[in-house]
Amino acid sequence: MAVREILKMGEARLLRVAPPVPESMFDSEEMRELVADLIDTMKAANGAGIAAPQIGVDLRVVIFGGTGKNPRYPDAPDIPFTVLCNPVLEPLSDDVSAGWEGCLSVPGLRGEVSRYEQLRYSGRDATGAEFERIVDGFHARVVQHECDHLDGVLYPRRIQNMTKFGFTDVLFPALVA
Ligand code: NI
Repeated sequence: MAVREILKMGEARLLRVAPPVPESMFDSEEMRELVADLIDTMKAANGAGIAAPQIGVDLRVVIFGGTGKNPRYPDAPDIPFTVLCNPVLEPLSDDVSAGWEGCLSVPGLRGEVSRYEQLRYSGRDATGAEFERIVDGFHARVVQHECDHLDGVLYPRRIQNMTKFGFTDVLFPALVA
């Protein structure tokens, strides 16, 4: 449908706690247009995922996966394309692992963030159908990163060791920013 402008860190709209998708919006033309715009915007920017607040839409909607080999994350395993609305995340253990993250709202930078290693997530798809998955590793990391956007949290706030935060082209010269 359209590649939308991605809001960048510093923009107040990225700090909002987004409200749930209302029942009336599931399976609607408005929802189909939102998802189409999120897909176009994510793909144009080579993102692994994107959240509705990043394009200024104040709703609890994230999409991720389905991009195949991603030049920004060439070593990441494939994640099935997913539309996740009104998500609920439940860590399945206290195990956390540190890993490098980037964000389309924080262009050109990467930082090391600890995330739960295994979790169950549940929510609704664009039609309103409920689903849940148990995931680990990169998939779990992406879900946690994207759902943070729904609570107004950008990954730099979760970096514990600020020496592990820097420009992608310096940290990883072979990678696309
Ligand atoms: Ni992000």
